[in-house]
This record gives sequence, C-alpha cells and structure tokens, in this order.
Amino acid sequence: MAVNTGEFVGEFVDARDRKGNTIPVFQYGEDTIPAIRGNPKEQLPQLKKMEARDDDIVLCAAVKAGTHWLWEIITMLLKGTTEYAAGPKEDAMLEFRPIEELNALPSPRILNTHLRLSNLPEQFIEKKCKFVFVMRNPKDTAVSMYHHFSAEGSAFAYRGSFSDFLSMFMSGVVPHNNWTDYITGWEKDLAMNPDIPYHIIHYENLKQDPVREIKTLASYLDVTCTDDFVDDVVEKCSFRNLKKGKTATPENQRWHFMYRKGEVGDWKNWFTVAENEEFDSYLSKEMNESKFSFRYTL
Ligand code: A3P
Repeated sequence: MAVNTGEFVGEFVDARDRKGNTIPVFQYGEDTIPAIRGNPKEQLPQLKKMEARDDDIVLCAAVKAGTHWLWEIITMLLKGTTEYAAGPKEDAMLEFRPIEELNALPSPRILNTHLRLSNLPEQFIEKKCKFVFVMRNPKDTAVSMYHHFSAEGSAFAYRGSFSDFLSMFMSGVVPHNNWTDYITGWEKDLAMNPDIPYHIIHYENLKQDPVREIKTLASYLDVTCTDDFVDDVVEKCSFRNLKKGKTATPENQRWHFMYRKGEVGDWKNWFTVAENEEFDSYLSKEMNESKFSFRYTL
C-alpha cells in the first residue's frame, strides 16, 4: 500500500526470505523501517523537521552492530557516572519514538538510529551535532539479526532458519535496511557532507581494546576523564555486567535478547562453507567501491 507522506511516498511491503517467511516493513525514501511498532508513517515525515540541540549526540549503526553497548558507554561518559542509564536506549530511538517524547528527553540527548541521513533531522547538520558510528562485520551482524528477529518476545516474530534468513539479508528489502546499502550509503553521505563531525568505532576493536577505544571516543566527545573512570566504564559495560545491569528488573527483562552472546566470530558456528563462499562473493560485489574494512576474528 503506497502512502503519500509529503516528501517521499512511503510504502508498506514485506521483507521476504526464500521460503516465503516475511517481516512487514515501511519503505520510506532510502530507509526500510520494520512496521512492527511505533507509527513510521506519521513519525518519519515529522522527524526531518525535528528541532536539534547543539549538544545532541547522534549514534548511528546498522542494526545489531552494538548500538546498546555504545549508547550506554556514551551515556556514562557524558553524564560522568558509571551508573546504568535508567531507561533503555529505545527511549531515544529516532525512528520509533514520537517527536514529543524525543523533545522531552533531558540534555545531553544520545539519540540513536538505524536511519540514513536523508531521513534524519536537517538541523543535525545545521547545528553540527556530533555523530558516532558503530560498525560490525556483516557475518556476525547477520547472525545477531537472525537471533533478534526470531527471539522469543521479539516483535519481528521471524520463523525461518538461519539459512533462510541469509537469503533475506542478501535481498533488496531488509528490516532496518540492507546492510551493504546502509554502509555504502553512509560512506557516500559522509563524503558529500564533509562538515558533519563524526567518529567511527568498530565493534571488534572495542571488544579487543575497550580502554583505548573509550579514551579515543571520550576525546572526540570533549569529555575529560581519569583512567580509573574509563576502567570503571569498561567494567560496567562488559558484556556480562551490562546484560545483568540492563535486564535486572522485571520491566527490563524483555530486552534480554539485545544481549545475546557478545562475541566476535560467532558466525563460524552458523554459516556453512557454501554459505560463507556465497556471502563473500555477495560482499565483494556489493562493497567493491567501499573503503571500509571489517575484521571477522580477533
Ligand atoms: P550478538 O547477538 O552477536 O550477541 P545492537 O545493540 O545494535 O542491537 O547490537 C546487539 C549486539 O551487540 C548483540 O550481539 C549483543 O549481544 C551485542 N552486545 C551488547 N552489549 C554488548 C557488550 N557489552 N559487549 C559486547 N557485545 C555486546
């Protein structure tokens, strides 16, 4: 069904795997937003005109790249405390929260999103808000997406196998955007908008050397902190502690599937040799113009 929302014509369609299992999505300009909660038809046209604040941080990531992890780290750095944030990162997710609720968030806001630049508030650029990107290798990302989409309690309610899901991952229509389009799209967006301040963190590097990565991030965010404070952030945001801290209350237990395994290289347990070969040739074709590189093991 096509919906004329003003700037773009949005359309409700299905992301589909090779067996016909589907996930409903709303295709809006360059973005493919899961139509599983919120009201993307109303939300997206309004988002573009949302008022930004000078101190907004815009945390961008392809889905399952480690957004929750980074959101918590950035929150701790900006607030100067290693207490866990009271709410979930979803409270500050641009594509799902009503504008009034985003407007009501206290500063500094760590807004987060899987959207492309063309659907983000124009004022982010005018006000030179700081962007942070988290990137993760696409094989672990695909495995993580599969588990999130098929987890008990997940609104995606995907019922195919991992192999079936891979066929959806490599198709044109993928909930929260096709990975290669997202990465290469942002690469072009950043090249065309050289005034956007941004910092990229790779999941694998954060996993390998969290102290170094968090110090570099703090310096980009103009946060001064002691070595002890950084060590404490690392400890509080280790996979085990973060999972425990963010899913401790009965109200928050529903987020359990956001903290699944937290490893680099789990894809080896899921891809067959043939799937891995097919995926590699898919990537080399789709990413042949990209300058980004990804690590698949530590
Ligand atoms: P896995 O499914 O591979 O475990 P996002 O936050 O973008 O949805 O990404 C979720 C992925 O990040 C999940 O990957 C999750 O387990 C992992 N993750 C969350 N917190 C983490 C942490 N503290 N350390 C490492 N990985 C973490």
